[in-house]
Amino acid sequence: MKLDIVILAAGQGTRMQSALPKVLHPIGGRPMLAHVIATARALQPEGIHVVVGHGAGAVRSALGADDIRWVTQAEQLGTGHAVAQALDGLQPDARALVLYGDVPLVPLDELQQLLQKAGSQALGLLTACPADATGYGRILRDSEGLVTGIVEHKDASEAQRRIGEVNTGILTATVADLRGWLPVLRNDNRQREYYLTDTVAMAVADGVPVIAQLTTRAMEVQGVNDRRQQAEQERHFQRQQAARLMQAGVTLLDPERFDLRGRLSAGHDVVIDVNCVFEGEVVLGDRVHIGPGCVLKDCVLGDDSRVQANSVIEGARIGREVAIGPFARLRPGTRLADGVRIGNFVETKNADFGSHSKASHLSYIGDASVGRDANIGAGTITCNYDGVRKSKTTIGEGAFIGSNTALVAPVTVGDHATVGAGSTITRDVPDSQLGIARGKQRNIEGWQRKQPEQD
Ligand code: UD1
Ligand code: MG
Repeated sequence: MKLDIVILAAGQGTRMQSALPKVLHPIGGRPMLAHVIATARALQPEGIHVVVGHGAGAVRSALGADDIRWVTQAEQLGTGHAVAQALDGLQPDARALVLYGDVPLVPLDELQQLLQKAGSQALGLLTACPADATGYGRILRDSEGLVTGIVEHKDASEAQRRIGEVNTGILTATVADLRGWLPVLRNDNRQREYYLTDTVAMAVADGVPVIAQLTTRAMEVQGVNDRRQQAEQERHFQRQQAARLMQAGVTLLDPERFDLRGRLSAGHDVVIDVNCVFEGEVVLGDRVHIGPGCVLKDCVLGDDSRVQANSVIEGARIGREVAIGPFARLRPGTRLADGVRIGNFVETKNADFGSHSKASHLSYIGDASVGRDANIGAGTITCNYDGVRKSKTTIGEGAFIGSNTALVAPVTVGDHATVGAGSTITRDVPDSQLGIARGKQRNIEGWQRKQPEQD
């Protein structure tokens, strides 16, 4: 049967206490609604219809895509009213599946099972038994256990509130049935809302079979209404990702202190220490070791490379057997060939390092190309910016840059050239020569240090 998916995302999310529409708050670095849309896409529906209201413009511009139909619900008059706004755009011979934009981790396989069980006729519900059912709609069943309806928490009697099985909100019904039921919903309830859940009793009255699938994954069907629930969903999502990586053979020293906000692919015997954050697209080769407290974004690291504690790497391509950190900062455009060493308090940007070249301590190397086997001493600065434009520094292969050197770009230090420590280099140093540019030392014989006055 054809499938049309309706995602409800018009609510304000008052309890988030935020200027950002609720469904744009991130889980794992992506808006909640983006997770739901990705799950919807995986079901390969005819259409994805997102009902927006509060912050509609911001939501559309954050998540706009060709395969999404945006439906505006100007006033939030209830979940039934929200689905009704989308009804015109649904295929008349399709089945509709309603998802919530604030239930980001809804499991794909549960949805597939639900749709399969509902077949071509039934109304299907995804239900759960959370530890605390407060606030949820309760599932009403008759003496034979057949579902007869849903009562919202606010409308429920004391006895009904003791029912542990709740509505997750995820519901499927044929578009034809919804076209019959939604226009006749009434709002004579505590919240003065048109409840989508009232269609369950209508189905029973019309002899449409109602199936309820009880999921054991209560955590994943939980919505986000406040920051605490957002944090819970975030950690649950991170645990899922950590579990997948560990299954694939990655060592995480503590999966509770691991955060991936994007995609991470890792080779064999990769070890990741605690409190690391991975963002964007990160690729780690075999036997890569990432020390504690590192942040890696959009980068590739070759086999046997090691990143020591508290290093930050972004937009870098790194070869094999490279040693980085501790406390190194690699900025976009950094390319390190095999065997390079970038030590503590070294910052690189738009810099190409040839194989086995080294900058071991306290340097800034930006807009530069460094030849293989070059050695950059502590405190070397490429002065790449004159306040107007950026210029390039070229350091030849096997060059040796003495400590505390300023290389005023544009400038070239030739192959196997040497720069004396403490130099300010403003002119090119030819191959194999020594460039030295510092005040000559004088020693003053017989000089007396001033003595403090006695009293
Ligand atoms: C709803 C269900 C309840 C279920 C619970 C699960 C109804 C009447 N109740 O209650 O049975 O246990 O979810 O979390 O369906 N929305 C709109 N437009 C509206 C109203 C809501 O788009 O006019 C969206 C909200 O943004 C949210 C979702 O629908 O994403 C659910 O709305 P919410 O008000 O949270 O419903 P609950 O009262 O929690
Ligand atoms: Mg809710």
